[in-house]
Amino acid sequence: MMCLGIESSCDETAMALVQDGRLLGEQIASQVDMHAVFGGVVPELASREHLRLLHPLMDALLQDTGVCLSDIDSIAVSRGPGLLGSLLVGMGFAKGLSFALGIPLSGVNHLQAHLLVAGLEKPLIFPAIGLLVSGGHTHIYRMQSPLAFELLGRTIDDAAGEAFDKVAKLLNFPYPGGKHIDRLGLGIAPDTHLLPRPYLSNTNLDFSFSGLKTAVLKYVQDHPQLVLPSMDTVTGKDFVPAPALAVLCSSFAWTVADTLRVKVERALDRFPDTQGLYVAGGVAANSVIRATMHRVARQHKLEIRLPSPCLCTDNGAMIAFYGEILARAGLYHNQDLEAIPRGKPIPWDYKS
Ligand code: KG4
Ligand code: ZN
Repeated sequence: MMCLGIESSCDETAMALVQDGRLLGEQIASQVDMHAVFGGVVPELASREHLRLLHPLMDALLQDTGVCLSDIDSIAVSRGPGLLGSLLVGMGFAKGLSFALGIPLSGVNHLQAHLLVAGLEKPLIFPAIGLLVSGGHTHIYRMQSPLAFELLGRTIDDAAGEAFDKVAKLLNFPYPGGKHIDRLGLGIAPDTHLLPRPYLSNTNLDFSFSGLKTAVLKYVQDHPQLVLPSMDTVTGKDFVPAPALAVLCSSFAWTVADTLRVKVERALDRFPDTQGLYVAGGVAANSVIRATMHRVARQHKLEIRLPSPCLCTDNGAMIAFYGEILARAGLYHNQDLEAIPRGKPIPWDYKS
């Protein structure tokens, strides 16, 4: 079975083909540089770019893989959460293709697709705990199968990636700045008392990162020399951060990673039959979080499913991979499939 996956929920336009659980090919066009000028994603511009890019990406994908449209058995499309206008562009394209080719369509939960994409590299394992850390979300799930996710906890304010990006902005790094914080802190011992680990004095599995951002703001106000003179400075070829800036970056990443660790271990305590730990989303590319989660998995004797960094950020492979699972389970949508914007729960409304 071959599935074409389409991703357009935010600022990445992507398309991939998966056959029998294997990636045949993928095309991704990132809009990051375009939005960086504005310090964040501009929804209107993102939608227009998706509209401009989808068709050429599909042509390139078919040419690269040697696949014909008539070889494709099903279409999968990211149906949310995401920017509504961006989702609608990808979904309109997917619906048109499904109708024209007479093949089924499945709307995919973008967050669950992030977690399951690990299955492209290693066999899926259940029951599991899934930690999804991206620019818009920080969720912990109990995963019983690829089709059974239970949300255990979520952020009550900023997402982990949002915290990285807001702190990066305070330091005058270009958007999205998470990866610069990661790079500057690499190999530097964190000061584990510099910042407070937020929202741990409770028994729940929710997160709150806005207080941590405020703590960094206060620290930076007290140490204004840490703020870089221009947004280009951090990407400069010869840039070497001041030791105090490197320690701040390393300590911030440690504080986020250790906060995530506490909640993941709390979830593991609740479900002693857990076999696997999935970690995914753009922030799962962070080296401190990756090392921390590998350690957690080792200590709890769990199999870790942490995709390669290139599969952590938004991509089409994850949509095609999950789409094929849905198609094999006979779970489809009609042309009335609806896009779900950020903040709204994704309904389980497949027609089987
Ligand atoms: O999942 P994603 O590509 O997009 C969505 O939000 O859906 O995640 C993007 C987020 C951004 O906040 C970005 O700064 C963060 O992932 N990110 C990182 C790293 N690479 C990407 N944060 C920390 N360290 C990184 N290496
Ligand atoms: Zn994402």
